[in-house]
Amino acid sequence: MDLMEAIKGRRSIRKYKPDPVSEETLQKIMEAVRWSPSWANTQCWEIIVLKDPKVKIEVLKAVPKTNPAHSAMVEAPVILILCGKKAISGCYRGKPVTAKGDWLMFDTGIAMQSLCLAAYSLGLGTVVVGMFDHKKAEEILKVPQNVEVVAMTPLGYPATGGATPKRKDISEFVFSDRYGEKV
Ligand SMILES: Cc1cc2nc3c(=O)[nH]c(=O)nc-3n(C[C@H](O)[C@H](O)[C@H](O)COP(=O)(O)O)c2cc1C
Repeated sequence: MDLMEAIKGRRSIRKYKPDPVSEETLQKIMEAVRWSPSWANTQCWEIIVLKDPKVKIEVLKAVPKTNPAHSAMVEAPVILILCGKKAISGCYRGKPVTAKGDWLMFDTGIAMQSLCLAAYSLGLGTVVVGMFDHKKAEEILKVPQNVEVVAMTPLGYPATGGATPKRKDISEFVFSDRYGEKV
């Protein structure tokens, strides 16, 4: 698939078919994550592939029913839980080297985009889910102290396509030479 087509065509999917996702397909998605850029190639991301219906039900308790992706998490055959190892990205000997602190959110964000684009190119749907009780999810998933859960996504074959939310015009976010100066 053409890259621009993937970037522009990927949509958040909130309705899924129950059809399973093969191991081969999962591996292809993980391969896309694997080749994502990261701070000094630190690759702080870790992913829990959640398929066990019992654990899924537990994790769903951490996602509010008001979250528009809640039912998608129930329907999809897989939930991918994206975690980040703390004090690695943007750090030297465990201490941040820039005023931005831990770059974990940045690197895992890039990894999530790779994941979503790869999934889309393989005919699968995703939706980044960030609004949930992270502490609760970490407890349920037995995530250790040096790791945090960042976001999750259901993964499966779309039952319906997603709506296309409007984007800002380029002129609204691109400046010339100095902040605020129009191109
Ligand atoms: C960091 C992040 C967190 C998000 N959290 C949620 C969420 O908790 N629930 C949800 O339904 N969508 C969530 N989304 C999906 C956005 O609403 C969606 O990407 C945006 O509306 C643009 O739509 P599109 O992905 O179809 O282009 C999240 C997206 C990002 C990048």
